[in-house]
Amino acid sequence: MKPAEIIFICFTLLHGFAAALNCSSPTPSSLIREFKKSLFLNNLVRPVKSLSHPMNITISITVVGILGVDEKSQTLTTVLWQVLEWEIEGLSWDQKQCGTERISVPREKLWVPDIHIAEFMDEDEFPITPYVYLYNTGHVYDDKPIKVVSSCKLGIYTFPFDIQNCSLTFGSYLHYATDIMMIKGSTSEEILEESRQVLQTNGEWELTDITIAEFSLDLDEGSYSEIKYFLILRRRPILYVVNLLIPSCFLITVDLFSFLLPPQSVDRSSFKMTLILGYTVFLLIMNDLLPATGESTPLISVFFSLSLALMVTSLLETVLITNIQFSSRQYSALPHWLSILVLHYLAPVVCLPPKKESSRVTVVLNPAAKEPVMGKGNTDTSGSQSSSPVKPPSFPPPPLDPMLDELRRLSRDIAGIRQQVDNYIQGTKASQEWQMIGTVVDRLLFGLYILFISVSFITILCIWLRSNSYAVG
Ligand SMILES: *[C@@H]1O[C@H](CO)[C@@H](O)[C@H](O)[C@H]1NC(C)=O
Ligand SMILES: *[C@@H]1O[C@H](CO)[C@@H](O)[C@H](O)[C@H]1NC(C)=O
Ligand SMILES: *[C@@H]1O[C@H](CO)[C@@H](O)[C@H](O)[C@H]1NC(C)=O
Repeated sequence: MKPAEIIFICFTLLHGFAAALNCSSPTPSSLIREFKKSLFLNNLVRPVKSLSHPMNITISITVVGILGVDEKSQTLTTVLWQVLEWEIEGLSWDQKQCGTERISVPREKLWVPDIHIAEFMDEDEFPITPYVYLYNTGHVYDDKPIKVVSSCKLGIYTFPFDIQNCSLTFGSYLHYATDIMMIKGSTSEEILEESRQVLQTNGEWELTDITIAEFSLDLDEGSYSEIKYFLILRRRPILYVVNLLIPSCFLITVDLFSFLLPPQSVDRSSFKMTLILGYTVFLLIMNDLLPATGESTPLISVFFSLSLALMVTSLLETVLITNIQFSSRQYSALPHWLSILVLHYLAPVVCLPPKKESSRVTVVLNPAAKEPVMGKGNTDTSGSQSSSPVKPPSFPPPPLDPMLDELRRLSRDIAGIRQQVDNYIQGTKASQEWQMIGTVVDRLLFGLYILFISVSFITILCIWLRSNSYAVG
């Protein structure tokens, strides 16, 4: 009995790896008996007729779940169904004679290829499926679920509108391309369609596209055959738009409209201060939602900083305008060039008519006040504006006539009052001009603010739109 078995083994080794099986009856036990005779004894080497033949491993995957993307550790976690198919050369049996076309056999009884994913970062935690299908043509079908934690270079520059391109590289860890050739089993359209049907986690990420490429990794020792799958994932931005962008835009809009509050009311600056406070709290809260990597800053952070900077700038501007409007009484008269520049050139730009009325009012008032005085020949009036208005000009000693005396006193008082009024009008005029300047500058900065906000937001919007557009195909 024993010599016969040895002869049989030698026979099978000489005539290739395995032969056509002859089942004595169409029962599983008879088939297993046949397997035990030849197939299961030869699970140590690649099942090829000649070791110089490369073996084709056909692979196809289905994406079942996208569990998450970790920006900090730059990893992507997916669940895949991985199907490997290969041929055991020479093995065959007759379906009628053995009673079945295919049978499941324990994985460890066969030779299985050492296919692994080059991007693996963590061990596969899924339970090992113990069986593979064996067909009567020698075809082996090995289907198992795997959970892949793979490294992926994640770009978060365009953060809530980002599209990630992660690769999964399948290949034999040990065998060179002369031993194992990787063949892609299904086209990317088939994978995409099947994945979309079975994709279970409808989380933050949407599988947009899959592309497949056959690669050859050439090292000094030899080249390896590899299949690369590129998963194109698009983030669903709605959560971030609702939680981050819209509130931020609201606050900026409120800030913008607060320019409509008249700066004379001190409320405006405290209103803006409150807004800034609110925005700071908002920034603190949303810090948790932002992805954190040291590598690049997301554009959305720039957006938030820009918004904060705009708010602070507008607060500073309000302080400046309030100062001009309220403290202008202490300022000296408006420099002529400034008045020309602002009131005559900038005012039309911001749609304020060049202020004619105020100057007309003073022109009307002044001659009316001055004329009688000038007629009286008082020389001390125009030059003494800087001196104290209360102190009246000195007069020659009064004569004895009481009427004349009284008139002189009256004239002195009137001169004093006139000077007071004169100074007041002068001061009011300067102050009015300063206030006018304040209004013009306020309007101008408001316009610039709107312009700057529009330009920067449109720019950011364009960057986001461009980055988020991906043409499938
Ligand atoms: C099965 O039978 C055929 C003839 O019917 C024979 O050629 C072949 O060698 C047999 N195979 C084995 C494994 O005994
Ligand atoms: C492996 O696949 C190539 C084509 O990709 C084919 O030419 C070759 O015959 C296949 N080898 C085997 C053993 O099936
Ligand atoms: C994904 O990245 C690979 C290389 O890293 C590149 O060849 C491929 O074209 C990219 N795919 C897309 C859709 O950008």
